[in-house]
Formats: sequence, C-alpha cells, structure tokens
Amino acid sequence: MFREIDRILIGREQIDRRVREIGEALSRELIEAVGGDPLLAEQHVVLLPILTGAMVFTADLIRQMPMKLSLEVMAVSSYPGTATTSKGARLRGAMPDGLRGKHVVIVDDILDSGRTLRLVRDLVLEQGPASVRTCVLLSKSVRRAEEVSAEFVGFEIPDEFVVGYGLDFDGYYRNLPEIAVLQPEAYGR
Ligand code: IMP
Ligand code: MG
Repeated sequence: MFREIDRILIGREQIDRRVREIGEALSRELIEAVGGDPLLAEQHVVLLPILTGAMVFTADLIRQMPMKLSLEVMAVSSYPGTATTSKGARLRGAMPDGLRGKHVVIVDDILDSGRTLRLVRDLVLEQGPASVRTCVLLSKSVRRAEEVSAEFVGFEIPDEFVVGYGLDFDGYYRNLPEIAVLQPEAYGR
C-alpha cells in the first residue's frame, strides 16, 4: 500500500484474532462488574479512546463487545510532527466530564513511555469513577518511564517505531490495515 514500508510486523488476521479475544475478555469483566446482565450495563460502561491513534482499534474493538456501552473521546499529543520519542503528554481540548460512578475503559493504540496513560488515568480518577481499566493494542515495555501498566494488552512489540492500524508517523499511515515498520529513510534518519 505504501512504498516506504520496510516490513509488516503484525498482519490483518493476527490483529483480528487478538482484537476479538480482547473484546471478549473485556466484555466478560465489565458485564460482571455491572452485575452480570449486559443490558443493565446501560449508562455504566464508558469507553474512552485517546485520539487520534486509538480510532481504528476502538472501531474494531467495540464491535466485539455485545453490551451496552457509551463512547467518550479525548485527545492527547505527545509525538509532535516527525518526533519518534515522547516529548511529554499534553491534553488537547476538552476532557469528558460525567465519569463519576462509571466503569471507564481507557483505550489507546500503544503504551510506550507511559506518560499518556499516566496523564489520562489521573484525569479520569479525579472524577471518581466506579473503576478504571486500560486497554492498549500494543506495548513497548522497554521504554517505560512512568509506572503504569495496562490490564489488557494486544501485543508486546520490540522497541521500534511502528505505523498502521491507527498509528501514524507525522500524521500519515494510519489507514494502513497492518502494523508495519517504515524504511529508515522514511523516518529521516
Ligand atoms: P507514551 O506517552 O510514550 O506512552 O506514548 C503513547 C503515545 O505515543 C501513543 O498514544 C501513540 O500515539 C504514540 N506512539 C508511541 N509509540 C509509537 C509508535 O511506535 N508509532 C506511532 N505512535 C507511537
Ligand atoms: Mg496516541
């Protein structure tokens, strides 16, 4: 799809299978948290994807969750432009309010330094939710700078900058259906 792709790290089928598994595990836990009846989950479960990277993952994930849930979004930026290492997480725009008493699931594309999830988790906790869970498609454990972990992780990946399935480099490649590594020249190094 793109000339600059060096190699595919995680293919379509692998992603589909894992997203299905996570959706099932997450639903099971949440349905139990709201008392065992998926219909009673109404008004209680909120998925909170972090824009823009979590868009594609979230779109697939929620269709594997047969229960009442609502979506709230927030935006955090940490990798301005062509940066490939975290420059510190910053909230961009509004933080959803009304999370008090809700079972909140923060959803992100990747857990890297942990600054993004640390910031978001703290902001969510300030509102007094019933519970907070974190779900990420990818995790690069080696780079963790903050003490955070995610309850639901799709794949542990090596310390490489990846694109596709929602993840970008300089705003591009989010529409690639697989998760891939670009050629070194594409990153400008
Ligand atoms: P953290 O705050 O360092 O944990 O970074 C998390 C955010 O950085 C994610 O939401 C991604 O948007 C972005 N990010 C981290 N690693 C990558 C990568 O390899 N490719 C694309 N974006 C990344
Ligand atoms: Mg992001």
